[in-house]
Amino acid sequence: MDIKITRAAALKEKPDSSTLVFGQSFTDHMFIADYDAGQGWHDARIVPYGPLQMDPAAKVLHYAQEIFEGLKAYRTASGAIQLFRPMDNVRRMNQSCERMALPQVPEDLALAGITELVRLEQDWVPHEEGTSLYIRPFVIGVDPALGVHSSHHCQYIVIVCPVGAYYPEGLAPTKIYVEQRDVRAVRGGTGMAKTGGNYAASLRAGTIAEERGYTQVLWLDGVERKYIEEVGAMNVMFKVAGKILTPDLNGSVLDGITRRSCIQLLKDWGYEVEERRITAEELFQAAKSGAMEEAWGTGTAAVVSPIGELAEGDEKVIINNNKIGEITQKLYDELTGIQWGRVADPHDWIVKL
Ligand code: PLP
Ligand code: COI
Repeated sequence: MDIKITRAAALKEKPDSSTLVFGQSFTDHMFIADYDAGQGWHDARIVPYGPLQMDPAAKVLHYAQEIFEGLKAYRTASGAIQLFRPMDNVRRMNQSCERMALPQVPEDLALAGITELVRLEQDWVPHEEGTSLYIRPFVIGVDPALGVHSSHHCQYIVIVCPVGAYYPEGLAPTKIYVEQRDVRAVRGGTGMAKTGGNYAASLRAGTIAEERGYTQVLWLDGVERKYIEEVGAMNVMFKVAGKILTPDLNGSVLDGITRRSCIQLLKDWGYEVEERRITAEELFQAAKSGAMEEAWGTGTAAVVSPIGELAEGDEKVIINNNKIGEITQKLYDELTGIQWGRVADPHDWIVKL
């Protein structure tokens, strides 16, 4: 499908890349394609960045019929631009669409929306160490009708923004507590889809955690309230007695691309990785007995994020003396090394623009 480009009349001033805050300044253009039942996807275009027009009755506003993705474009030392595993995002996007009764976006169109927008906005990919261009593709159902039915008219949109560190702490260990009231997702629900409602459901707990001086919460499963699932909007891993433990993909955990990449690297390095159900109790026991060596979250935005303190009710444990662990640091160095083109890419994860 041809992509029609309408350029912005005036270009914005780019933000100072040494003080970038995650997700706050957007570029000059965005990508949009429309879908109509019976016609399929059409009118792929890049247009000046700006507000979307939609009917106040649009389904997405009332019934949250939407999904999104998140990936980054990285600037290498030679000035080239590259993406990390973009087809994994495209495939996960379509799995999310399937769950949310949205039309799937053909893989070539989904990828072209990303690559052509990044190509046009290439001057926005920052050069500063640790910065990148965050890419946010999303699909929305916009039928202007209040009946609870899936949409016949949908849009696939891509916006991009230069970003620095996701957490203000950077790579400093985070403080996490086990959330006991709210749950993020349940099996059979939408936890494995990257859909807005999951994040809306997480905001109350996240806000209270911040008010209490914590970075994020550790989510428990929604049925037995015993098994840990994710940390904030990241997957989570632990090093206990030399082995790596991470919750299995049980239907309510997002199949993170950073998670997948970490598991591969850990196996390459000879670690045993157990993907299984893990109770919060097991983790606190391990921490108290001294078997818990490291803990970290994984996600595109922060890459890996060490956990230095874990709390549940009145109980509190400190992990690795509240310092980043050796494996956490090694994963961060290796993944960011591959992403920014500083180290070899043995698994063909990089796609050059
Ligand atoms: N879990 C949730 C709920 C997320 O939103 C994300 C981020 O996208 C992740 C995990 C990590 O996924 P990925 O590594 O693909 O960014
Ligand atoms: C991640 O990339 O790790 C995320 O969780 C994205 C977030 C902004 C939703």
